[in-house]
Amino acid sequence: MPGRRIKQIKGTAQRRNRFSTLCCPVRPRSAEDIENRPERTIVFAQETRYNRGIKVDGCENMPKERLDKVLASQNVGSRKESGALIRRGTVAVNGTVVRQVDCKVDPEQDVISVQGQPLHFQRFHYIMMNKPAGVLSAARDFRQKTVVDLLPPELKCRGLFPAGRLDRDTEGLLLLMDDGDFAHRMLAPKNHVYKLYEARLDQPATMEDVRIFAEGVELSDRTCLPAELLLLGDQCVQVRICEGKFHQIKRMFHAVGKEVVYLKRLRIGALDLDPALQPGQARPLLPEEREKVFCLED
Ligand code: URA
Repeated sequence: MPGRRIKQIKGTAQRRNRFSTLCCPVRPRSAEDIENRPERTIVFAQETRYNRGIKVDGCENMPKERLDKVLASQNVGSRKESGALIRRGTVAVNGTVVRQVDCKVDPEQDVISVQGQPLHFQRFHYIMMNKPAGVLSAARDFRQKTVVDLLPPELKCRGLFPAGRLDRDTEGLLLLMDDGDFAHRMLAPKNHVYKLYEARLDQPATMEDVRIFAEGVELSDRTCLPAELLLLGDQCVQVRICEGKFHQIKRMFHAVGKEVVYLKRLRIGALDLDPALQPGQARPLLPEEREKVFCLED
């Protein structure tokens, strides 16, 4: 949006969060590590290869990850298909054809090509979804459809999980990822990543509600952090909060005598829901969009 001032928040948490243990089998890594990593280009990798004297014709000095596993992780094919490609001599590591499926590579340093095409390795995957109503924000559920069920087949088995939950009947911006550190940074209230919601109420909100929200709504079990309430008229409001407690917005309005009849998340940090995404649609998040999550607009 033109004129919007963006301020970067420092990333902090390096801890593994509950998502990584519950839903995400992928090794946690610092989100900063990933984001600060220089763009890998062939030039960069070649320099690395010569400057650091990496041995390219033997695999014994690169005890990192199996080549077939790396290819499968990048959706080149299943593990079996990736192995077949390697055995057929269509995969090269740092310019040398490798036929051993268990050859160990460092996918972030080595230049891997498949059928002559460089593989642009991505450790983590991030997806923006326009969550439709009627779907659970969960990785899997035995009875009900989840947001992961809406993903295309090649992404369904990647261990992606929703970073933060929207209620079943809530729509809008949801990020799915396999990066537990990123999710933790995004959700921890101390990092002040604000989430903007649009709500329709059963009756108009008042200026008194605006004041109460700004001071911190008292719920039965806790006091909420200060929230911004903007009256749009016609029982429509926008709310900005940096917490994500269970049914938080619905409970905040209930505490001031109103019920939420419709709720949609519009923005996380400075990242807006892509208006081109129809409910139920998802697309990869661009690297610059990932950064916007940790930007403050003021
Ligand atoms: N607050 C709620 O009440 N529900 C949501 O889905 C998100 C925030």
